[in-house]
Amino acid sequence: MTDSYSNQLVAYLNQLLSNTAVLTNNMYIYHWNIVGPLFFPLHSKFQEYYEKGTSEYDIIAERIRQLGGYPATLSKYNSLSGIKEAVSKEYNSNEALVNTINDFKYMHRFASDVSAYASSIGDSVTSGIVGDNVAYLEKQIWMLEANVK
Ligand SMILES: [Fe+2]
Repeated sequence: MTDSYSNQLVAYLNQLLSNTAVLTNNMYIYHWNIVGPLFFPLHSKFQEYYEKGTSEYDIIAERIRQLGGYPATLSKYNSLSGIKEAVSKEYNSNEALVNTINDFKYMHRFASDVSAYASSIGDSVTSGIVGDNVAYLEKQIWMLEANVK
């Protein structure tokens, strides 16, 4: 891997890190602000998602360091992330789930592209790490879409 490929990959991973940070915060927003008869199961589901997001966040940042880069910091996340932060207000179950599906689909596309780029430059470790999350998201999207039918 040449330096320019590595620098490009670190830039993509910092965008992925920022998307992950905003998405994880959105999972907290729905965890806190969900209302209605599905409060208890969805409050728990969103906790599962922010815990998974926190784990991914750490994995991505540590991979950036392994590649010689530095993880982006908080003030950069909103501009680097294609996922927009959720408004803090009450959410019924359908709105929270539909928003989550949209965020997960964006993340799935973005992570797929990063994994493919890593693979194209011969970095199977990054491709594998990011690819694992693509598989996780794909399964969650399937379940979330089943839940809103
Ligand atoms: Fe909580």
